[in-house]
Amino acid sequence: MIEVDTIAGMRAQVAGARREGQTVGFVPTMGYLHEGHLTLIRRAREESGLVVVSIFVNPTQFGPGEDFEAYPRDLERDAALAEGAGTDVLFYPPVREMYPDGYATYVTVEGMTAKLCGASRPTHFRGVTTVVAKLFHIVEPDLAFFGEKDHQQLLVIKRMVTDLNLKVTVVGVPTVREPDGLAMSSRNVYLNGSQRAAAVVLSRSLAAAREAFAAGERDPAGLAALVRRMIEAEPLAAVDYVEIYSWPDLADIGRLDRPVLLAVAVRFGRTRLIDNTVLR
Ligand code: PAF
Repeated sequence: MIEVDTIAGMRAQVAGARREGQTVGFVPTMGYLHEGHLTLIRRAREESGLVVVSIFVNPTQFGPGEDFEAYPRDLERDAALAEGAGTDVLFYPPVREMYPDGYATYVTVEGMTAKLCGASRPTHFRGVTTVVAKLFHIVEPDLAFFGEKDHQQLLVIKRMVTDLNLKVTVVGVPTVREPDGLAMSSRNVYLNGSQRAAAVVLSRSLAAAREAFAAGERDPAGLAALVRRMIEAEPLAAVDYVEIYSWPDLADIGRLDRPVLLAVAVRFGRTRLIDNTVLR
């Protein structure tokens, strides 16, 4: 595995692979890799000649008072894990390489970024789409792999790729879960023992919603209320949102008569976790 921390170095690696006619697969991450990331990397390995992984804790997607400084970082451990999963090139630019002095350009996807996580994190998706657009321009991948745990992010990036006529194909990969159902996340390390035990309520409430839907429930408000009741019954959990929108365009709906995204965000102490399910 080759490690590069400059944009020029990254471009040189991709240029070499292109000369050999290789397909480039890309997994953008913020590091502190877990099994969810490794699943994305293995999938990229299966489908690409050159596998590029980026590790960049992107300051522009954190709001004031969020965990940018505290976000877990361990480059040495990440490099070993990335290599083991099949990475060819690890790109870990410093902040000044991505956002030099005078940086002033942002990419914004409108509408769908104002709801769900965008409602409580108003500048988050602007930061995500800006950094992902920059990374796509630097790496120029054929394929880019994103986890379905951040489902709104996946849909927003697909929208950006379509709207800006980018050549990359965005591949969504199913959420990887702990044995008890908790979706894997770098932020799970913030949970203490009792919060970790309580956090299983997210996947359990979504499973209950899937059962109710399978049994014929077609009222979005009824389904959201079922999930909210289950989460609120857990004393350590504070609901940020339980919402249902049409999938994949995230429009408001009156009945469950088309595919929908049921998404939840819940705080356990200072840690905010998200999870979702698509009902078809
Ligand atoms: O999902 C993430 O880890 C980040 O939002 C991403 C896509 C790497 C952009 O910083």
